[in-house]
Order: sequence, then structure tokens, then C-alpha cells
Amino acid sequence: MKFFIDTANLDQIKEAQELGVLDGVTTNPSLMAKEGITGVDNIMKHYKKICEIVDGDVSAEVISTDFDGMIKEGEALADLNEQIVVKVPMIKDGVKAMKYFTDHGIRTNCTLVFSAGQALLAAKAGASYVSPFLGRLDDISSDGLNLVDEIRLIYDNYGYETEILAASIRHPMHIIECAKIGADVVTSPLQSILALLNHPLTSIGLEKFLADHKKGN
Ligand code: E4P
Repeated sequence: MKFFIDTANLDQIKEAQELGVLDGVTTNPSLMAKEGITGVDNIMKHYKKICEIVDGDVSAEVISTDFDGMIKEGEALADLNEQIVVKVPMIKDGVKAMKYFTDHGIRTNCTLVFSAGQALLAAKAGASYVSPFLGRLDDISSDGLNLVDEIRLIYDNYGYETEILAASIRHPMHIIECAKIGADVVTSPLQSILALLNHPLTSIGLEKFLADHKKGN
């Protein structure tokens, strides 16, 4: 399973990259705004900086919601760096735009996916990635992991090559459950990636090893 980090914070991206387990980055307009990155020029420059830090795919989201606008924005984003994957919302013009991008060799990440039917449409349009938002479904008492399971089954039934990119991750158990289901990618905040490191028996065991080593010397 690939690990992406879900942030536009350059320090956190660097920290995950230095850990040696990072395969890519996802961003969205809210995450860019959180870092104070505003205006098209600054946003474009920021994507370039992210691409310089990581080796893998970097999802960059279009703001337009009409076909022509999405094509114009997506082509400009894709021109920035070959690592860029154009993130397109799951709306009618978004599906048309994803098909256009697929036909023109531009990779896409279909975002804001909350149902199996939407995921099926994304695959039909040739999206490189589909992003089911687990946490936001859990937030409304729905089952986010069940959606990932459904999409896995449907994609496997027909051999769709669209990669399942589990998004809106809230905690480390989401990551583990997605790995059990067979998601291709999980995009997560740094905190949840680092939380995978922790086990009390590891800390206790290491403390004991070091204390015993000290006694023996
Ligand atoms: C996915 O690509 C989105 O950026 C993200 O996972 C949304 O997560 P949130 O529900 O925590 O905002």
C-alpha cells in the first residue's frame, strides 16, 4: 500500500519524506488556505515546491466547476511538473473533464467520492485515483471503510485500473483497516502516520534493553 501525506505544510511533507515511507502528497483548497497560500501564482509556486521535496505523485485540485474551466486549470497544473495529478470533483462536468484528461494523457484524482456509484463513474472516466472520504462518512454515522470495501469489490470484478486512494483519514486504525481491505493508497495527516510507530511494549522493551546494557558495562 502506498502512503501519501494529506497536507500542504512543507515541514510536515519534509518530515514524512525523511522518514523514508512517503509515496506522494494530496492537497485540497482548504489545506492550501490553512497554510496561508492564496492567489494563483503563489498556489502554483507552492505545488512546485512540494514536487521538489517528494519523488511521487502530487495531487493538485482545480477550483473551476465547469468543463472548460477545469480543462484550462488542469492543463496548467499538469504543465508544472510530471508528478502532478489533477484533482477533479465528482460532479457531472468533472466526469467529462476526467475523460478528457485521460484521453490527453493527464492523470487525475477524482475527489469528494462518497458512494460506490460515484467510484464506478470515476473508473469509467479513466481516473488514475479515486478518493473515497472515509472520515467524513464516519462523521455522519455512515461507514467509510465499508465504502472502500465496496469499491475494491467493484474494481476487482471488472479489473479497473483506477487506484483506490483512501482519504479523509482520522486515525491510525483507518490506515490499518484500509490495508486489510486492500486500498492501493492511503492519504493521511502526518500525525496518523507517526501514530503507527507507537506501542507501549516497544517503549518498555527498549527501556529495559538499554537499562540492562548499562548494568552490564
Ligand atoms: C483528500 O484528498 C482530501 O484532501 C482529504 O483527505 C480530506 O480530508 P478531511 O475530511 O480531513 O478534510
